This record gives sequence, C-alpha cells and structure tokens, in this order.
Amino acid sequence: MALTEERTGKTYLILTYGCQMNENDSERLAGQLRDLGYAAAARPEDADVILLNTCCVRESAEKKVHGKIGELKRLKAANPNLIIGVAGCMAQKDKDKLFKRAPHIDLVLGTHNIHQLGESIAEIGRARGRVLAVWEQAERLAPGVPTVRKAGIAAWLPIMYGCNNFCTYCIVPYVRGRERSRPVDEVVAEAAELAAQGFREVTLLGQNVNSYGKDVPGHADFADLLAAVDKVAGIARIRYMTSHPRDMNDKVIAAVKAGRHVCEHFHLPIQAGNDAVLAAMNRGYTTADYRRLVAAIRAAVPACSLTTDIIVGFPGETEAMFADTLALMAEVRFDAAYTFLYSQRSGTPAAVMADQIPPAVKKERLKRLMDVQNDVSLALNRELVGAEVEVLVEGESKNDANKMMGRTRTNKIVIWDKTGREAPGDLATVAVTAAQTWVLKGRLI
Ligand code: SAH
Ligand code: SF4
Ligand code: F3S
Repeated sequence: MALTEERTGKTYLILTYGCQMNENDSERLAGQLRDLGYAAAARPEDADVILLNTCCVRESAEKKVHGKIGELKRLKAANPNLIIGVAGCMAQKDKDKLFKRAPHIDLVLGTHNIHQLGESIAEIGRARGRVLAVWEQAERLAPGVPTVRKAGIAAWLPIMYGCNNFCTYCIVPYVRGRERSRPVDEVVAEAAELAAQGFREVTLLGQNVNSYGKDVPGHADFADLLAAVDKVAGIARIRYMTSHPRDMNDKVIAAVKAGRHVCEHFHLPIQAGNDAVLAAMNRGYTTADYRRLVAAIRAAVPACSLTTDIIVGFPGETEAMFADTLALMAEVRFDAAYTFLYSQRSGTPAAVMADQIPPAVKKERLKRLMDVQNDVSLALNRELVGAEVEVLVEGESKNDANKMMGRTRTNKIVIWDKTGREAPGDLATVAVTAAQTWVLKGRLI
C-alpha cells in the first residue's frame, strides 16, 4: 500500500493473543504503524511502541496478557517515552480498569477502534497523557485499513465482524459487537489483491461465517461468497472459519463441493455431545441435528476432513452427560478436536449457573477426551499411509531445515525430505509413508 512513508527511525512490536481475527487485526495495527514511518523492532528493548493485542475468551488467555503487562513495567521504567498499548478483546472488556491495574499503560484501544491507532498515538505524543479509545459498538464497518501481512503463502481475510449468537459461555459477542458483513465486492477485491501479492491461500474469517450477509436485507449469502472468491485467479485454496452447525446448510455444502479451490475441510464446533448441555449452552441444535449434518457433508464430499471444538465441564455437566460427548467423539470420528476446559467469563449467563464443575473434575475429563481423540486422529491418519496427497508447500519444517512442510486440502500437516524441486507456494504431490497423531510423513513425487 503506501510505500512512500518516511522512515522515522522509530520501531514497534506487536504481540498477539487469541484467534485468527485478532491476528488479522494485528496486521492492520502494523499497517498503520508502517504508514506512520515505524519499522518492526528486533527486540522489545528497542521498541518505541509495544502493543498487546489481547484475548479474553478464557481466563488462561487473560492471565498470559496480565503477566506480559507486568513484565513491560521494567521497559517503561528504563524508557519513559515508550508507548505501551493494549488493544483487542480485553481492552474492549476492561477499558479504563486496565489503567488502574497497570499505570504504565498509555493506550487502551477497543475492538471497534483498531483503525484509530495512528490518531491515538499522535494524541499521546501531543498531550503526554493516556488515551482510551473504546467505542461501545462499531459506528460503521472498519474502513480500509492498511495491512502488513506476515510474508508467506496463506493470508487471513475477514468477511464479517462480530457475533449475534450469545452462546451462554462465551464473551465474544460482548467484546466484538453485532454481526457486520463486508460487501462481496470488497472481499473479492481483497482476495485478488492478495493473489497479486503472491498469496496462494485465503482463509475467510468470521465468528459464524454461515450467517454472512444476514445483517443486510437482500445481501448475498456465504455460499454466494464462496462461489465468488472461487473465481479469483491465482488463489489456489480457500478455507473459512468458523462454521456454526446451526447455520450450516445444503447450499454451503454444495458450494464447497462445487468450488474448485474451496478445501474439503469442515470445522464444525459441536461443543458438547449431550442435548441438555447443548440447550444450556444456547447452541440451537441437537446431537441428532449434528449427526444429520455430518451425514450430509460426508455424502456430498466423501474425502473431506472434519474437525471440531469441545468444551468440557460446562456448568451442570454430569459424568453421564460427559460420557455422551465421549461416545459421540468415538462415533463421528473427527480428524482433530480443539478441546477446552470451561472457563467462567463474568457477564455471561453460564458464569452464574448452578453446579459449576470443580477444576480437578474438568481436568480429568479433558484428559479422557484427549485420549479418545488422539486415538481417532492417529487411526484416521494411518488410513492415509500409501495414498498420494496434494500439498501446498509452505516452507521448511520448523524443526529441521532438511525437511519441508505443507498442508493437504483437508488441512493435515505433511513433512517430507527436501528435494530442492519444491518451492513455497507450489502445489506438489506427496506419497504418505507414515502417520502420527498430528502429522503425516511422506516423499515428494
Ligand atoms: N465463533 C467460533 C469460535 C469462538 S471461540 C465458534 O463459535 O466456534 C473458539 C472456541 O473457544 C469455541 O468454539 C469454544 O469451544 C471455546 N470457548 C469459548 N468460550 C469459552 C469458555 N468460556 N470456556 C472455554 N472455552 C470457550
Ligand atoms: Fe462465541 Fe457462540 Fe459466537 Fe462462537 S458462535 S463466538 S462460541 S457466542
Ligand atoms: Fe479471543 Fe477475541 Fe478472538 S476473545 S478468541 S481474540 S474474538
């Protein structure tokens, strides 16, 4: 974008916690700083601006952030001109309470105010005071904010902001506001721009992508959007997250099946395998609905992978209810599951429900769940040994520069010995020779 910015000699560091949406927000924070003439700092000690882009979905995420804020006190003492900012979901939730808790913070920037970073920093410079920029709701869709993306082959592409679902355990609707969809043209234009920059894969982001467009009467829906992005030249793969099982439908399944570049991977968080728990969570579907959905997906796209999110220890979850979740996992056979201990979020309905589950019980259930899932993941991966899979080459393996890493369309990680013939961004064929729980090993063909 603006490549004319003057270098000020100043540098920044952004630390990101939380989900892909936050990672994309950080890219937009970085874009604004670049346009102000800041470069990325090599070390925290060198930075003129340090931003923490925060998450509050679980207590563990908040603890990490508070720990980091505490650590930064030392840097502020050494360099009083250092600007420390807290952005994102915790900023939105706690607002000026963050200043009270940590007086060395200069800026609190809410989730609806990401685009105001530049003016906020200018204001801190002028007034030498603190700035609180937290709107209660988005005044409009965030305008086109400059973006600095991590170099690579895959990019995040937000298609909508906010969430209207109010699952009873979840803080996200309170800190991200109501659903706002970006126009199809804007999403398609950004995808084309990404392709021109050399990105090969886009992940369409939203808390519930299946309700894309529903906030605007007569708007295109998510299936229409998938079809439109599928036509963007240069984009080899399209992913999306997250799908809500209640709103996933035959039209979207058909769009995935029909899309040449849309990957055969369905991430469908079920959260629990018991109907009473699902009802208490306000998820809006039953286990029977979910089973029907999985059957429809597997009938339409037989070679797909299926992943999920599960929360253990939701208030009132009995041993028998938890056993239903274990049984459903064994029955559905997910390729992978992201599993969480229920975390009480104040202000959410579940936080004040009776029968909160003791931590030790939650931990024990999580362990049993992971044991079941790991066995299934390994078994499914073993079924791929001997097969040839298409991978999008990402680069060298993190742990070994003699090995390369890529992902299948079903989002499985594949590692193989480097041959020198493969370059990041290539689509290559790999013969799978061995399987582990989380990765496949193979040989380039
Ligand atoms: N919008 C997405 C993701 C939201 S957060 C969705 O609906 O799937 C990602 C995951 O965090 C959720 O799927 C849920 O499994 C988990 N999560 C959310 N709130 C939580 C809480 N209070 N305690 C534990 N896990 C939680
Ligand atoms: Fe949270 Fe539910 Fe919205 Fe996902 S759909 S962000 S779990 S409220
Ligand atoms: Fe966390 Fe906010 Fe994402 S609470 S999970 S960073 S939407």
